[in-house]
Amino acid sequence: MKTIGILTSGGDAPGMNAAIRAVVRTGIYNDIKILGIKQGYSGLINGDIQEMNLSSVADIIHRGGTMLRSSRSEEFQTEKGFKKAIDVLNIFGIDGLVVLGGDGTLRGAKKLYDAGIPTIGIPCTIDNDMGYTDYTIGFFTAVETVVDAISKIRDTSTSHGRANIIEVMGRHCGDIALYSGLAGGAESIIVPEVEFNMDEVAKKAINGRNRGKLHHIIVLAEGVGNAYDVAKDLGEKTGIDTRVTILGHIQRGGTPTTFDRVLASEMGRTAVELLLNEEGGKSLGTKCNNIIALDIEEALNTKKEFDVKMYETTNLLSI
Ligand code: F6P
Repeated sequence: MKTIGILTSGGDAPGMNAAIRAVVRTGIYNDIKILGIKQGYSGLINGDIQEMNLSSVADIIHRGGTMLRSSRSEEFQTEKGFKKAIDVLNIFGIDGLVVLGGDGTLRGAKKLYDAGIPTIGIPCTIDNDMGYTDYTIGFFTAVETVVDAISKIRDTSTSHGRANIIEVMGRHCGDIALYSGLAGGAESIIVPEVEFNMDEVAKKAINGRNRGKLHHIIVLAEGVGNAYDVAKDLGEKTGIDTRVTILGHIQRGGTPTTFDRVLASEMGRTAVELLLNEEGGKSLGTKCNNIIALDIEEALNTKKEFDVKMYETTNLLSI
């Protein structure tokens, strides 16, 4: 193992730069050449590759986004594109690969491993939708962003006696809504994992209004449906003036939280050390605060469990 490549792929996530920094510095510490592959699997196919040194990753641990940039590569899914990627890895003499991203990225990592390239996956996505790990890098930074938005929206909703439907990201996973709704003190949380009843949401808002509450914050996970439909329905059922805030890509940026920086740094180091130990084909995760390494196949096949108990807590505490 003399040369290791690193790439970031799919939706970017705060903390990716901290992981890149850890991979580069652990590699250099072990006299390994680290090649940065730009723009994910697209950059790999196009040979958009540069050698990294200690200065390449200076002053990035606190930066959101990914200094290597990212992409969602259709070409990599084709046989021709995949073969080009393998050829490039051989041309550059890359002996091992560290890939940062979500489930799609890990599926690509598995394909490369099956083609003989020792590969390690690091779970980076704000969605926290990978069942084999307690948390993915970027998740808590996105939650922090949403909690800050909830606080700001609560101010103006109180001033005007309004309800506000705050739509958050997460694709088909409700964890951003769940964690930010609980931490932000939302009145209701609507997630894809739990059937919701609009009459119940309306009743809670009316009861709150009757005891003098001047705001009603409903956090809606994007995987459920259209925030404007929910707002219209709530307004009609309650008579409460209702607005919509779609947070969108603001959840993908910002300086990573301490937790995401620590997780990213530990995983970056572990990834290099696994490759040095000839243990490719693994996906890193965190379980009960320990870094774990699972076969990528097993990681991808682990079903995401929704935290129903936490969901019940959010309902209980917002009576
Ligand atoms: O997977 C991360 C994510 O931010 C999802 O939560 C969101 O639905 C999607 O990416 C948005 O994709 P894009 O950045 O391609 O618009």
